[in-house]
Amino acid sequence: MFQADDNILHAEKGEWAVEPRPVEELPLPTDFFWGTATAAYQIEGGALQDGKGKSIWDSFSHLQPSRTNGENADVACDHYNHMVEDLDLMASYDVDVYRFSIAWSRIIPLGGHDDPINEKGIEFYDRLIDGLLARNVDPIVTLYHWDLPQELYNRYKAFLNTDKFKADFLRFAKLCFSRFGDRVKKWVTFNEPYIISVFGHHSGVLAPGHSAATGHDTQTEPWRVGHTIILSHAAVVDSYVREFQPSQKGVMSIVLNGHFYEPWDQESEKHKDAAQRRLEFYIGWFGDPIFLGQNYPTQMRAQLGSRLPQFTTQEMALLQKTASFNSFYGMNHYSTKFARALSDPPAEDDCTGNVEELATNNEGKFLGPVSGMLWLRVTPDGFRKLMNWVWNRYHLPIIIAENGCPCPGESQFTVDQAVNDTFRIRYFGLYLDAISRAIYEDGIKIQGYCAWSLMDNFEWSAGYGPRYGITHVNYETLVRTPKLSAFYLKHSLKARRGGN
Ligand code: NOJ
Repeated sequence: MFQADDNILHAEKGEWAVEPRPVEELPLPTDFFWGTATAAYQIEGGALQDGKGKSIWDSFSHLQPSRTNGENADVACDHYNHMVEDLDLMASYDVDVYRFSIAWSRIIPLGGHDDPINEKGIEFYDRLIDGLLARNVDPIVTLYHWDLPQELYNRYKAFLNTDKFKADFLRFAKLCFSRFGDRVKKWVTFNEPYIISVFGHHSGVLAPGHSAATGHDTQTEPWRVGHTIILSHAAVVDSYVREFQPSQKGVMSIVLNGHFYEPWDQESEKHKDAAQRRLEFYIGWFGDPIFLGQNYPTQMRAQLGSRLPQFTTQEMALLQKTASFNSFYGMNHYSTKFARALSDPPAEDDCTGNVEELATNNEGKFLGPVSGMLWLRVTPDGFRKLMNWVWNRYHLPIIIAENGCPCPGESQFTVDQAVNDTFRIRYFGLYLDAISRAIYEDGIKIQGYCAWSLMDNFEWSAGYGPRYGITHVNYETLVRTPKLSAFYLKHSLKARRGGN
């Protein structure tokens, strides 16, 4: 029933470094869980409903519409008012888990540790969590998925003031643990710290939009932001383990994103080093301090010198103490790129490890077919290699916290075309096969998989253009229509787990 046309992956003419293979429907463990992921700002809408405060994304999209495709998420999928329908949709897909984020400014409108709580916001998440549990779906809750309370930015520039941010984030986290922790057993502190640091405070494509062009110090800001995130994560983990875990018995970690990087020239040591260095600048930056309780990767210190903040002795001790309390590695992964070494010296504000990222290698070959996003190619072998890289470095069970793609041309499709999403089915099928190989052939522990996303939603700087959902959303009528991929995942996961 789900035999997608093999040629679908050849929609873009090109020569592949690796030929796309057919989906094999390889097995997965019976206790492997699957579900979907979303983020509050991307789906909720209800921007100012029931006392919610403004986030930096409310401001960014309204004040700088040219940077969000002229769009905002005031309404988005209006999940705030369609929650029961969305819960039923998930139940019909037979998901085991649902990963969503809590909008900080919905429950503490101003965000700060002394600021009032909005009980109406708490009630919304109470109903969501109860609705999930009633349908046998386990919540995985992300505390921070980019929608920082605007007031914290106004007061002290948020991440750029480590101590103040840490105190405010800790209070928000504790509020979530005390109100929801009786029912939520899997927590994620931050989603994609690399993106928060670099896209928010270097290229400026995401809120708060800091870049050299806006007069910000891109030589230091991304590293300071990253430092704040690492220390805030450790503080929250420490508090959870001491004050909440003994009774609540939940687990916690962070979600790191990252492409895999293949050397631009397979034969050259220089480009092989570049690929490795790029992974360290992307993932090791956060992973080494958080999961190993170690300092930043040595290649980063060597290139960045004093631009990279130092951990104090006390901070290092906290990192060492909390490292082992991270119970899983949360992985967001979509695609693989080629890494080409740039010539020295690196640019003063380089964030890449002095590496250029390319879609083709030295022979002009592509790694895989392009999806509806230019940066996102179908590259399941890279996914498997990244799981190996992460496992070898951090030895933690992995949860795939996000994975998915928009189909080529999908932004222009009618609903009838969109629901027939064979390209996405192939993508999911190949990436699930890669997980199976990583588990059974490479010996890696992988606990579960969250498809991005439950439904089409607001894709940040690209607005409503790209559609990543396994459910089509009509943004005029807010009607939800399941795509074929939703049923593919439902049936494929069942079959792969031996009928479970
Ligand atoms: C990662 C982000 O966490 C999510 O918010 C975004 O929509 C997807 N990638 C797709 O780009």
